[in-house]
Amino acid sequence: MRTLIALSTVLLVSLQVRAAPLTEQHQQPIVDSPSRDYAIKKFQKGVGHFSDWSRTTKKEFLIDWQAGKASEWTLVQGNEGGDLDSMTAALAWAYHLEHSTENTSRPLKAIALLQTPTDALDLRPENKLALDNSKMTSGHEDLLTIDELPEDPETLSHKVRGIVLVDHAEPLRKWSSAKILSIFDHHVDRGVAPDAEPRIFEMTASCTTIVARQMLDELEKLPQEYHLAHELLELILSAIAIDSGGLTSDSTTDADIKTSERILKRSNWSNRELMEVMENLDDELSDSKKSLDHLSLRDLLRRDWKGDLVDTPSRRTPTVSLGFASIPYSMDYQINVTEFEELFDWFAIHAAWTAEIGVDISVCLNKYKVKENGKKKKKIREIVLVVRDDVRIDEAQANSLFGVVKEAIESHTELGLKPWHRVDELAPRQMVWSHESDASRKVIRPIVEDAVMGWD
Ligand SMILES: *[C@@H]1O[C@H](CO)[C@@H](O)[C@H](O)[C@H]1NC(C)=O
Ligand SMILES: *[C@@H]1O[C@H](CO)[C@@H](O)[C@H](O)[C@H]1NC(C)=O
Ligand SMILES: *[C@@H]1O[C@H](CO)[C@@H](O)[C@H](O)[C@H]1NC(C)=O
Repeated sequence: MRTLIALSTVLLVSLQVRAAPLTEQHQQPIVDSPSRDYAIKKFQKGVGHFSDWSRTTKKEFLIDWQAGKASEWTLVQGNEGGDLDSMTAALAWAYHLEHSTENTSRPLKAIALLQTPTDALDLRPENKLALDNSKMTSGHEDLLTIDELPEDPETLSHKVRGIVLVDHAEPLRKWSSAKILSIFDHHVDRGVAPDAEPRIFEMTASCTTIVARQMLDELEKLPQEYHLAHELLELILSAIAIDSGGLTSDSTTDADIKTSERILKRSNWSNRELMEVMENLDDELSDSKKSLDHLSLRDLLRRDWKGDLVDTPSRRTPTVSLGFASIPYSMDYQINVTEFEELFDWFAIHAAWTAEIGVDISVCLNKYKVKENGKKKKKIREIVLVVRDDVRIDEAQANSLFGVVKEAIESHTELGLKPWHRVDELAPRQMVWSHESDASRKVIRPIVEDAVMGWD
């Protein structure tokens, strides 16, 4: 009994301390908790300075919006694929903008906006793991996602102070009226917002590297440094680790390594070896990233989808909607996870998805590995091109657009494209190639976009 009283006291004290952000805990019958461990585990949900900051920022943004003060806010946006790099870069820069100006006469209000719906975020197990590791609330409740915006982006664009782009080179069309304050990116520079400041394009493995370096440079110049939450530092290391294969991939640059080193020194892992920390993070996150075997084809298409409207010079068809999926499985595997396990069903599910989001032209980029007898694994990529004739363009236009884009892709002989082994079974305006080059979406997307923009 004495233990029980002591335990309840501990729990009551904890409850009082934690009461505000965790109101749902009041409904827990305290003395019935099976064990102290259980209760403490519950309380650890979304604690930590970083989670607090993130939740407070989200709350303040929504309060200000309701009070008609959205004009005070800067939205830091990652790309709509919503991978760990995009998410972390956006969170880090919003954190920096707020904290670095907190004691000045003009404190900035900044929030990271994840341009991915909450349920699509769940299709990325590595994000969930990294957020758990950073003690964020489960279910992404601390984060502002696109489906939680209280107003459509077209309207909000005119109201906010401006947007900052991280991990993409130009804003989605729906944000095109917003002022672009800064850009940090590691894709191809599309020449957007030449006056943005800072405006940094650099081919680092991780975009988070570019943001973190700028953050540290500015932090170290402040008369007094603000508190860098260790959970944020660890999230930054996670994002860089997964994109750089633990700083060992070919795409890793000096900047990725040096920035990781600087971040590590300030983190809770400062007494550990950089390469060891990064390798462990990469192993842990990459393993979880690969656990997608439970996903349906529709989820695989949605999981890492990037798309937007693209203008063409044609007066008849001023704009088409173009989308890209990146899927870490072969076409053959994807066909196997459809209900009927047949090729027709792949195209039926794909068509239902592109109809739902109103996409005229879609490109799926598949990547998988095959074991060769005795040798090490070989990486194979596939490109799937499909054009619809029932969204913005008619059949004749769709045929012509398909031809233009197909020709543009095939003109890149350095890719070494081969027609897919079941190409004979495809319908008009469907094409699948396979290749063994390293060309990812970063390379293919500009090729397709340029072709669409040149289509007349
Ligand atoms: C702002 O003031 C607080 C409280 O004195 C301090 O903890 C924080 O480090 C200061 N931040 C900056 C950037 O000077
Ligand atoms: C991380 O470091 C901070 C101080 O730098 C410390 O307060 C905190 O307890 C540490 N957390 C962990 C999980 O080691
Ligand atoms: C797809 O299913 C067929 C028939 O069950 C099987 O032979 C093939 O190995 C599977 N392919 C993949 C990539 O899963």
